Amino acid sequence: GDVQVVPLIKTTISDDRGDEPCYDGYPASELINKGYDIPHVIGLLWDKRLISKQEAEIIKRIMMLSADHGPCVSGALTTIIAACAGIGMSQAVAAGLIMIGPRFGGAVTDAGRYFKYAVENKMSVDEFLAYMKKNVGPVPGIGHRVKSLRNPDKRVKELVGYVKSLGIKTPHLDFALEVEKVTAAKKDNLILNVDGTMAAVLVDIGFPVDSLNGFFILSRTIGLIGHWTDQRRQESRLIRLFDYLVNYAAPKRREVPPLK
Ligand code: ACO
Ligand code: LMR
Repeated sequence: GDVQVVPLIKTTISDDRGDEPCYDGYPASELINKGYDIPHVIGLLWDKRLISKQEAEIIKRIMMLSADHGPCVSGALTTIIAACAGIGMSQAVAAGLIMIGPRFGGAVTDAGRYFKYAVENKMSVDEFLAYMKKNVGPVPGIGHRVKSLRNPDKRVKELVGYVKSLGIKTPHLDFALEVEKVTAAKKDNLILNVDGTMAAVLVDIGFPVDSLNGFFILSRTIGLIGHWTDQRRQESRLIRLFDYLVNYAAPKRREVPPLK
């Protein structure tokens, strides 16, 4: 008789059993030939949604603006150190990706989550900041190590300017900008950062909170691969931190007492 097998996994996004992959049902070649782009594939695979041209343009810009931020940031530096230690691309890039977290690049999801919470609950900025201080800690999406009111982040200005020029409703971005007004007045590096800006915009165009860190991870992977290939091209040597960059605060060398 028939044997019934319980499926091991269930997928709802893609199927490759035909002659090409289908993303949420749409054949990849048909998407290409009808003029769709990478952001549309992201929309299909991350949110099962064929996004509009305007939404795709926003995502393309987010990706272009966050693809890299030089060699000094946590992710790139880690990939560079790994590349110089002779580590292969996938592991070195993975090492850089592991740095993406609550302080660096990985605040997008939480920024989206809390801006959304504030907008849904019609919180004032003061109520929001009091809530965050009591329940969460540093506001995800706010603050930067080097960017500030005096040294603005052009990426943020560019994205905000573009999205505002479209004339669409942006309640989360508007709220995030109001938060920035208050936090940056307290301390001038507490600006709305790249994570917070992309989070607010992506929630405004309907992306689910859980997908949001993916936008930084995906975009920054472009830069991390660039840093790895750059070091390989240069045949860079092993990196060892110089002693003068370390504050040796351990006890001075001393005699080991007899074992008791
Ligand atoms: N909300 C509230 N207060 C903050 C925030 C914040 N987001 N960030 C910093 N502060 C306060 C700190 O509490 C601290 O206050 P204190 O001096 O009274 O103790 C002061 O500002 C300095 O804080 P540091 O953590 O030392 O500042 P630093 O410049 O190292 O922080 C960082 C930069 C890590 C980005 C921080 O602002 C932060 O944690 N932000 C939230 C996470 C985030 O959005 N990260 C993404 C950054 S953008 C990117 O990586 C692409
Ligand atoms: C980045 O895009 O990597 C950052 O904004 C973090 C930084 O410190 O520049």
